[in-house]
Amino acid sequence: MSQSSAAPAIAHNKSPEILSLIGDTPLVEATQFDTGPCRLFLKLENQNPGGSIKDRIALSMIEAAEADGKLEAGGTVIEATAGNTGLGLALVAGAKGYRVLLVIPDKMSQEKISHVRALGAQVRITRSDVTRGHPEYYQDVAFRLAEEIPGGFYVNQFGNPANPLAHERTTGPEIWEQMRHDVDAVVVGVGSGGTLTGLGRFFNRVKPRRGIEVVLADPTGSVLYEYVKTGQLVESGSWAVEGIGEDFIPEIADMSLVTEAFEIDDKESFATARELLRKEGIFGGSSTGTLLAGALRYCREQTKPKRVVTLVPDTGNKYLSKMFNDFWMAEQGFIHRPPHGDLSDLISHRYEAGEVITVGPDDSLLTAFKRMRDSDVSQLPVVDKSGRAIGIIDESDLLVKVHREPSHFNDPVSKAMTDQLETLPPDAKITDLLGVFDRGRVAIVMDDNKFLGLITRTDLLSYLRLHMPKSSTPPEREFV
Ligand SMILES: Cc1ncc(COP(=O)(O)O)c(C=O)c1O
Repeated sequence: MSQSSAAPAIAHNKSPEILSLIGDTPLVEATQFDTGPCRLFLKLENQNPGGSIKDRIALSMIEAAEADGKLEAGGTVIEATAGNTGLGLALVAGAKGYRVLLVIPDKMSQEKISHVRALGAQVRITRSDVTRGHPEYYQDVAFRLAEEIPGGFYVNQFGNPANPLAHERTTGPEIWEQMRHDVDAVVVGVGSGGTLTGLGRFFNRVKPRRGIEVVLADPTGSVLYEYVKTGQLVESGSWAVEGIGEDFIPEIADMSLVTEAFEIDDKESFATARELLRKEGIFGGSSTGTLLAGALRYCREQTKPKRVVTLVPDTGNKYLSKMFNDFWMAEQGFIHRPPHGDLSDLISHRYEAGEVITVGPDDSLLTAFKRMRDSDVSQLPVVDKSGRAIGIIDESDLLVKVHREPSHFNDPVSKAMTDQLETLPPDAKITDLLGVFDRGRVAIVMDDNKFLGLITRTDLLSYLRLHMPKSSTPPEREFV
């Protein structure tokens, strides 16, 4: 369709206006927590357009590269990341018309990969089980690609001075104004170290000689807390909080700026982030829990009133299937149900609590199939109106019925289900479960006539993993 000559002209050389919404985030006081003698304020970085504090550094690093001539029209922005930096870069570089290529370790969630792809980034998956110096290490792959691709610019957030500069020039001054030049402490986390170094430099300048404390909140397992406390670089462990904590000291992280440090474990971080949403209605990610828990500890230790600021570095949206999902929390051992000491402890979804997805005998096969797809399971218990489990239906039962004649999707479940159930009482043994699994079935746990729930191979594996001795759990790497 041709455009009418009266149509308003569109200026294509301008960046989309969304980029002007990066930064200038709100600051609110946390009023529903015990903050001892202090007042605690939260800078809502989750309200940046890409959902995190990293939008700021994406803009700053790309504009610095443009100014230095390292990035020119038609160029490709390359970074090793799967976290918020990738989202920020995909947003900013995409909006400015550059190609974006992100090197992503293979342990990262499909949701994150889908998000950067939806923003137009190209993705190169690489190994997450190798470290610095290995040719497949994500940062080494990104560096190599930037050398090979004409017009390629390797962002390198860990060593790029425009990263801390973004915080020195924007985040710090915004906090200073919003707090009316009255701040005693800021509590930060370290991923690349940009926030720490930028805010530390800014606050040392406006209130010199350690007038404003810079407090580190670090996940248990990261090496940074111990480094601040003792100057020693210890062996790292693993942690589940995302975006902060390190197994090395990043080039741009000026750890000498830190005046106090707290170590927060995953359980406390998750519980605190969940509490923040319930009490204050603020939807932050897992590291928000670490920062808030650290800030609360700092506040409660004080003997004089102080004005303390911390950050909500990213949105909770990305953690709905993890930290905000009770089943995931229980599976990972972060929340505990009272144990019964029998097989019912292995049931992840309990029927009585309304947690089991079921289907009725008179429902259609199409309904059964849709429920399986929607809840990402391959079988469903068939439960009658009185609440009795009378059968089980899985994908192969469906296929047998519909592969020749798809109209059989309209048949009732009762025609396709298996009614020979492998039921076990709650006091059965784990070895009894293995027998059921060997026959290719799932175990249905019944207490007399009462259906308690299903146990699958995955439930048993999760249970056994939780009971693995901590000392034999290998550390996992964090990717910022
Ligand atoms: C999710 C998340 N990403 C990044 C950061 C900041 O990391 P950086 O040290 O890279 O500035 C934080 C800091 O709290 C964070 O929580």
